[in-house]
Amino acid sequence: MTDLSAFIQGLPKAELHLHIEGSLEPELMFALAARNGIALPFASVEAVRAAYNFSNLQDFLDIYYAGANVLQTRQDFHDLAMAYFQRAHADTVRHAEIFFDPQTHIDRGIGFDVVIQGLLSGMKQAKAELGITSKLILCFLRHLPESAAFETLAMAEPWLDEIAGVGLDSSEQGHPPSKFARVFAAAAAKGLRLVAHAGEEGPPAYVWEALDDLHIHRIDHGNRALEDERLVQRIVADGLTLTVCPLSNRKLCVVGDLKDHPLKRMLELGLKATVNSDDPAYFGGYVNANFTAVAEALSLSRTDLVTLARNSFTGSFLPADQVAKHLAEIEAYTG
Ligand code: ADE
Ligand code: ZN
Repeated sequence: MTDLSAFIQGLPKAELHLHIEGSLEPELMFALAARNGIALPFASVEAVRAAYNFSNLQDFLDIYYAGANVLQTRQDFHDLAMAYFQRAHADTVRHAEIFFDPQTHIDRGIGFDVVIQGLLSGMKQAKAELGITSKLILCFLRHLPESAAFETLAMAEPWLDEIAGVGLDSSEQGHPPSKFARVFAAAAAKGLRLVAHAGEEGPPAYVWEALDDLHIHRIDHGNRALEDERLVQRIVADGLTLTVCPLSNRKLCVVGDLKDHPLKRMLELGLKATVNSDDPAYFGGYVNANFTAVAEALSLSRTDLVTLARNSFTGSFLPADQVAKHLAEIEAYTG
């Protein structure tokens, strides 16, 4: 282990951009397929991994939604969550804000309650056994109509005390944030926090819409915001955090090479960037692998790494006293 990766390893951090369905490792996919009597279109774990070559977001989404078919029972969602928390714990993640995609499951006949009860029991076990805190963010699939998002929000009604916020994911191009302005307003009226994927593949105009039409509290990705100077100034002025996902960006060809990744530029511009794994089972690494790869590619300093870790807590939806406690732990770690 290099000095840099050892430093990253022990650095306390939060993960703010993690799709729980994207943490489904091929080994677990096979185990759940066997448990549930589901046939997979792959002969082996190696064949699944070999299929993980994507040239854009849609390429990935097609395979990601197919993989989610093995998730059937409450126990499956519990096991999925616990497998993620074990990995996160090994990476010194203290807190995780987890996306889940109910529509991916409801549309296969799996009840909303099955999904959320399984995830919540995994979260509870992770808190008790690993000391990791977590929150849930319900994502609407943007390739589906606004009416479907409203139906999903209605299903969440009995669970609102267990859900921190709503997000917007899936195919970005052709599905601008404005399509979901009314459902985001309805979610805000219920006291939910708001985030949205914006500027991953979509243009700066989509990031403007996420700010002005959805009134989000945090931007997921946001890479393409850097194409618009006024937009950068606006995000800095609003103090919004960006949840950046370096290995995802490379795998989905948002950047050609990690050396061209905008993370360092984001920090230089005063943007509150964080490092996250997005869909770690598909993109080749959990949060520390993301930190290490991007730190090496961009020659990030320890100061940069500490800024990124601090941003992960200040950008979280944790209450101020808990944020302060985590910042103090970083301070103690760095001396
Ligand atoms: N769903 C899972 N991962 C995603 C990503 N990176 N962008 C959009 N939707 C997603
Ligand atoms: Zn994402």
